[in-house]
This record gives sequence, C-alpha cells and structure tokens, in this order.
Amino acid sequence: MSRRRRLLLWLLAAAVLFGALLLVASKPPRLPADRDHALDQAEAHCLSCHWHVGRHPRPPDHPLRDDCFSCHRDPGGDLHPRAGAPTNLPGGWADDPRLARGSATAGARPSPGGP
Ligand code: HEC
Ligand code: HEC
Repeated sequence: MSRRRRLLLWLLAAAVLFGALLLVASKPPRLPADRDHALDQAEAHCLSCHWHVGRHPRPPDHPLRDDCFSCHRDPGGDLHPRAGAPTNLPGGWADDPRLARGSATAGARPSPGGP
C-alpha cells in the first residue's frame, strides 16, 4: 500500500470515529412517558415549559431547531416526525439568548417562515 493511501485510510478512520463520538454525545433524549409529553400536542405547547424561562429550559448547547418531533423519540423509541413542522417558533431557539449566542453565524439562522 502506498504511503498516500495509508494516510487516507487513517484520515477516514479518524473521521468515522469522530462522527460516531458526536452522534453518541448529542443523542436527543426520548420523551418522558407522562401526560405532559403526549404526542398530540403542538410544538408551541412544548415550548411553554421548555423555553428559556420555562419550568425546564433546554440546555444551552441544544440544536437550533424547534421541530421537536423530528428528533425526540417517544418512550418506546419511535420517531413521529411531522411533515412541514416549522424549525423556528416564537419562544423557540431564536428567542433564547443562551441558544442563539455565538451560533447565529451565516447560514445557521433559518430564514423567517422557512427552514
Ligand atoms: C407541563 C410542562 C411540560 C410540557 C408541556 C412538556 N414538557 Fe418536556 N419536560 C418537562 C419537565 C418538567 C421535564 C423534566 C422532568 C421529566 O423528565 O419529566 C421534561 C423533560 C423533557 C425531555 C427530557 C427527557 C430526558 O430524559 O432528559 C424532553 C426531550 C422533553 N421534555 C421534550 C418535550 C417535548 C418535545 C414536549 C412537547 C411534546 C414537551 N417536552 C412538553 C415539562 C414539560
Ligand atoms: C435537531 C434535533 C432536535 C430538535 C428539533 C429538538 N431537539 Fe431537544 N434535544 C436534541 C438533542 C441532540 C439534545 C441533547 C442535547 C444536549 O444534551 O445538550 C436535546 C435535549 C433536549 C432537552 C434536554 C433534556 C435534559 O434535561 O437534558 C429538552 C428538554 C429538549 N431537548 C426539548 C426539546 C423541545 C421542547 C423541542 C421542540 C421545541 C426540541 N427539543 C427540539 C435534539 C433536538
């Protein structure tokens, strides 16, 4: 094997490892199995408890999106994504000074009314 190929292989292995680490580190927690977390509520209602001054604010390193059901699985581990769910809601990440800080770089901020 040429040196160049070996180097490429090492780089590939490192990239895969890094990706796997990222995936494990930021796995969205499942929804708790209680009535507050029933699947039939609107994302805006989730934010009534989880916006930055709510009962249980999202952590500052939370992904910058508000379409909760695209990421958070039900207690059984099933995902229930909603077609066309807005990624940016009033009271969501764009209104949360902790989440928006340092992350509002070019491209990270969804345009108003669309992803
Ligand atoms: C009535 C307030 C309330 C509402 C509404 C609510 N939550 Fe929560 N949520 C909480 C509280 C309090 C906790 C932390 C205690 C717990 O685990 O039950 C929590 C925990 C969570 C967790 C973390 C679970 C974990 O293992 O760390 C996620 C994810 C979550 N909520 C998402 C949502 C989503 C998505 C919605 C909308 C479908 C929602 N919540 C609606 C109060 C609420
Ligand atoms: C793009 C995927 C994604 C979307 C969309 C999303 N989340 Fe999360 N969420 C995550 C990840 C990943 C974590 C873990 C991040 C961390 O630990 O910092 C998380 C963590 C949380 C936690 C923290 C639980 C705890 O106590 O540690 C809560 C609460 C939560 N999300 C609620 C919500 C709500 C409510 C919405 C919708 C308004 C939402 N999330 C939308 C991916 C997402």
